[in-house]
Amino acid sequence: MSKKTDGTTSELVMPARRAFLKAGAAAGGVAAAGALGGHAFAAGDPENQAPNVADWSKYLGEGVDARPYGMPSEFESHVVRRNVEWLTASPESSVNFTPLHELDGIITPNGLCFERHHGGIAEVDPADYQLMINGLVDKPLILTMQDLMRLPRENKIYFLECAANSGMEWRGAQLNGCQFTHGMVHCVMYTGVPLRIILEEAGIKTNAKWIMPEGGDAAAMNRSIPMEKALDDCLIAFKMNGEALRPEQGYPARLVVPGWEGNMWVKWIRRIEVGDEPWHAREETSKYTDLLENGKARRFTWEMDCKSVVTNPSPQAPLQVKGHNILTGLAWSGRGTVDRVDITLDGGKNWRTARIDGPVLPKSLTRFYYEFEWNGEDLLLQSRAIDSTGYIQPTKDQLRAVRGENSIYHNNGIQTWHVQASGEVENVEVS
Ligand code: MTE
Ligand code: CO
Repeated sequence: MSKKTDGTTSELVMPARRAFLKAGAAAGGVAAAGALGGHAFAAGDPENQAPNVADWSKYLGEGVDARPYGMPSEFESHVVRRNVEWLTASPESSVNFTPLHELDGIITPNGLCFERHHGGIAEVDPADYQLMINGLVDKPLILTMQDLMRLPRENKIYFLECAANSGMEWRGAQLNGCQFTHGMVHCVMYTGVPLRIILEEAGIKTNAKWIMPEGGDAAAMNRSIPMEKALDDCLIAFKMNGEALRPEQGYPARLVVPGWEGNMWVKWIRRIEVGDEPWHAREETSKYTDLLENGKARRFTWEMDCKSVVTNPSPQAPLQVKGHNILTGLAWSGRGTVDRVDITLDGGKNWRTARIDGPVLPKSLTRFYYEFEWNGEDLLLQSRAIDSTGYIQPTKDQLRAVRGENSIYHNNGIQTWHVQASGEVENVEVS
């Protein structure tokens, strides 16, 4: 297996896949194994087979001074964010994707959260950081980092999904891997101050109906958010998964807008203006709107609809053995919790209920599993999520029937993976 240390690679052929093809050739196809556990043959270096003593048992390891900030094993160096070359005109205004097929549970490790920047990563010194609240308030405020840290804080787990996630798949199956089709999502525990507390401190005037958060990066990104949402569950977050926000996620502070499109989660937040109507900013007029067949565009489509994806097997994670296998994936809804996930192995003819495991939290990723036997037959894998409002994730055809073919944003259609007899998996559509 070739090891990559360079996280910026845009290579679409994954090391796991290459290793699989190599192993397959040596063994003359997919190795037959028992139902569970144990191999009937020796794999790897015969010198290192039990009960022999492996190399790593013969020498002292590194000491506690070797890794002041811990990093993953070198054998995991292929587990990185990746970009798609033709989507990356300039890396400062682009996106990379979370390797969903390599993860489990519901929390995304900080170093693997996808990044979406419109003007590169701002380098902000927390000692100079200021957050201004102005507009229709009784008392305009400027808060320092120290001020923020003295306000009451909360810990909440939320997913963030870019409205453009799966956007390249509107007109048909295109990208080979759930990292690329669905990897503009991450799920993190945020520590932050409820925005309500800050707005109450400034004192909002009776005609104040909207806020406009603005980023401190070169893009100065801004969006209009209704006051109702601002006072409901938004946070000014300064920690992710227990440690300081990463620079690429908005260090030292970002807006958290639970369940709503990622574009509104302004990073490096520097100002919040309070007003009586929306601002009609670039990101809510020419972008992040959905052009329908009749020439009209949907606007202010903030909530992320219920969605799911099978992360394994998937194009970057082919099936390697016949017999017992585990299918796993993620489901989420911007409107509440995931109630149920259904799985089909035959393109929608028969549906079974997946097993949900781990915390089931509102506006958070939810993990599901389905155990199955595979005898080398072709499979058409799909997952379909149902949320606490009763909403059922639609097929891509159902979505196109309502929204036409012009859209990029808010594609929550059912994804199909075709598992071939070789165990390889490709992105397809069934109708
Ligand atoms: N905030 C600022 N200031 N600048 C940006 O370019 N990108 C937005 C949003 N907030 C952006 C921003 C978009 S489109 C998304 S999807 C999310 O941040 C991505 O957040 P992440 O990079 O933490 O994944
Ligand atoms: Co986005």
